[in-house]
Amino acid sequence: MSPGSPIGVFDSGLGGLTVLKELVSALPNENFVYLGDVARLPYGTKSPGVVTRYAERCLEFLVAKGVKMVVIACNTATANALPKLQAESPVDVLGVIEPGVRAAIQASRGKRVLVLATNSAVRSEAYPKAFNAAGSEVIVEQIACPLFVPLVEEGWFDHPVTVAVAKQYLESRDLSAFDVVVMGCTHYPLLEIPLRQVLGSQIS
Ligand code: DGL
Repeated sequence: MSPGSPIGVFDSGLGGLTVLKELVSALPNENFVYLGDVARLPYGTKSPGVVTRYAERCLEFLVAKGVKMVVIACNTATANALPKLQAESPVDVLGVIEPGVRAAIQASRGKRVLVLATNSAVRSEAYPKAFNAAGSEVIVEQIACPLFVPLVEEGWFDHPVTVAVAKQYLESRDLSAFDVVVMGCTHYPLLEIPLRQVLGSQIS
């Protein structure tokens, strides 16, 4: 491992490519190794212990490739396994929840934030805990949207079925109460077009 070694990035599938895209544009001189663990996708429906085991295998795989650090480009793996991976890893490990929370706190004027995430990430309460840890007074509500992940993996980014599923998940809430929605799963930004149709344009 040397300063010229690549940065490892992993997710359960395609979603982490949304993070990789930002990393490549922020760090144009770095090389990256990306692992999409599609063989074991989805992570979001699995128990914390299973997600942690999968995340440990991804870390091992990337470390064996000689990476100098690892970015967990998966909220579900970050929610369940970040401290364990940080403790076990020979290289630095970063997650995606804290940066997302910081951005949401900055963007929210109304102090009501809606987090969309997988079942596992919602159950872990990682987002409400991270808002608390940041000393924020933001009121956080969460909705689990598990069907979004297979829709993304299917490539149905802008499809009537995806819009119908988004309506089903989101229309139970008074969306006008929120000024910020956090895409608490790295797959969800790929559904921006159908999600905008349901969320409206007043929400960041
Ligand atoms: N992309 C992952 C996340 O950010 C989860 C997708 C899955 O359920 O595998 O949470």
